[in-house]
Amino acid sequence: MADKKDLTIAIGADHAGFVLKQTLIGSVLSDCHVIDLGTDSPTPVDYPDVAKRVAAVVAAGKADFGVLICGTGIGMSMAAGKIRGIRAARCTEPVSAELSRRHNDANVLCLGARITGVELAKKTLEVWLTTSFDGGRHARRVGKIE
Ligand code: RB5
Repeated sequence: MADKKDLTIAIGADHAGFVLKQTLIGSVLSDCHVIDLGTDSPTPVDYPDVAKRVAAVVAAGKADFGVLICGTGIGMSMAAGKIRGIRAARCTEPVSAELSRRHNDANVLCLGARITGVELAKKTLEVWLTTSFDGGRHARRVGKIE
């Protein structure tokens, strides 16, 4: 896995995830190049609009990974997963985050700010960013998704 300082991360959140997004940018992502695609305040926005912006940047190869945050992480994962080339994983804890990288080569992490507490969310993102895809038999399976 590349050093975090070599990673470009596209990140987005709706109003429910806005505060956690700011926290993650200032902590786990402080060494990364971050493309912040909003939202920029607690004013309500529609999560599919944000998911589409982040997914498009990742799918175009302009970011190594994407991070999306809404209340549960569910809506963001549904929306991002519609974009060709995006493998969005909604993870609530570090074990799922690790396996979503090792087995599924997830390229977008979806977090739920109303589900996962701040410290656990930080750990979940840290593990996700620093875990590599195992390849091998998993590459064949991921190929079938594509
Ligand atoms: C917004 O209230 C909420 O529905 C959204 O953040 C998300 O949880 C949807 O999946």
